[in-house]
Amino acid sequence: MERWNSRAYDSSFGYVSTQGAPLVDLLDPQPGERVLDLGCGTGVLTAQIAFRGAEVLGIDGSAGMIEKALAQYPGINFIVGDGHDFTVARPYDAAFSNAALHWMSRDPAAVVGSVREALVPGGRFVAEMGGAGNCAELTTAMLTAWREYGLREPELPWYFPTPADYARLLEREGFLVRLLEYFDRPTPLDECPGGAADWVRVFAASALEGLPPDLVEPLLQRVNELAAPALRRETGWMADYVRLRFAAVRR
Ligand code: BEZ
Repeated sequence: MERWNSRAYDSSFGYVSTQGAPLVDLLDPQPGERVLDLGCGTGVLTAQIAFRGAEVLGIDGSAGMIEKALAQYPGINFIVGDGHDFTVARPYDAAFSNAALHWMSRDPAAVVGSVREALVPGGRFVAEMGGAGNCAELTTAMLTAWREYGLREPELPWYFPTPADYARLLEREGFLVRLLEYFDRPTPLDECPGGAADWVRVFAASALEGLPPDLVEPLLQRVNELAAPALRRETGWMADYVRLRFAAVRR
């Protein structure tokens, strides 16, 4: 199933890419380095890495995203692949990932293990993802609305680890953690005039699958009512994002 609408993602949720720019600074790609961008989406940050002279491969599980990335950046290599079990022909100097690892929730250890195998010894793994408590107000509003409507609570597809849990995972899988930050990042949903309801439509679309169509609108309006006290400001809606950012080195 195609989880993403790449056009909506690129235009409405461009902040996913713009907020990733400092992470490219943390990666500090060097000319000629081989870099892997895992969960590259439409390739905006992959292109920034390439612009600094690195040789980049963007990988994403969504064929739609990769199609758009290839169209936008014809000089860059992109492939469809699953973070859980991708392999590369020749190891890379660094792996990068922005706002993607939390979607690879089936087996996070397998993801980190695949990254390790794709790196040279001493290779860097620099990434940012949702951390524990990410989107707690949004998801609590969702789950409450689902319950109020007598629906079975949807399974949310994300993995938001605590810093301690993720550091342990990185170490267990053969990395030395050099930097680990855990912080709130309230994020304006500038392009979401429909507020939390729009956020659910884009990011939690799987929770809406199979619902009676005439239930969806009232259900999402209830999500808005429940989320508004915490997330709606005079200036617009904010998402209660919490980030985990790390830099680790393959032993
Ligand atoms: C994020 O933190 O980037 C995120 C997490 C879940 C759904 C959407 C976005």
